[in-house]
Amino acid sequence: MWVERYEKIWIVLSLVVLAVFLAAIGTSVFAAGIQLPGVEGRVDPRTVAQTPPFNRPGVYELAPKRYEVVLLAQAWGFTPNEIRVPAGSVVTFRITSKDVTHGFMIPGTHVNVMLLPGQVSKVTVRLDKPGQYRFLCHEYCGIGHQVMSGVLIVE
Ligand code: CUA
Repeated sequence: MWVERYEKIWIVLSLVVLAVFLAAIGTSVFAAGIQLPGVEGRVDPRTVAQTPPFNRPGVYELAPKRYEVVLLAQAWGFTPNEIRVPAGSVVTFRITSKDVTHGFMIPGTHVNVMLLPGQVSKVTVRLDKPGQYRFLCHEYCGIGHQVMSGVLIVE
């Protein structure tokens, strides 16, 4: 089959662009561990403070260097608002909101989740670099939105 020269060039270029995009997606998923925050379940926001595991928010060690953080967001703060884990830990956050839509973001990591009342969000991150990470609410949630934050200490 005869294909015009310019058409051949465009076909090759399109395949190259496609390959670059697929490589970028592959790298972000498999090498950088970027993921979509999963919807873990549903919970009644009116009784969430009495519903396990959200009746006991906190940091739980599941195994050496493996943690689960049960986090409750409300206007305008997080419970707990100070989290400590050793460097090299894999931390899974299980989070929901008690009242309105909030956000949960840890700058410097891939953690960026929307917190909807009634929905439990789950996100996992590996924290290798020691330091203090300020986590914050990044969905406008009212007059105290800008003070809604906490600190994650990787020691
Ligand atoms: Cu909570 Cu903004």
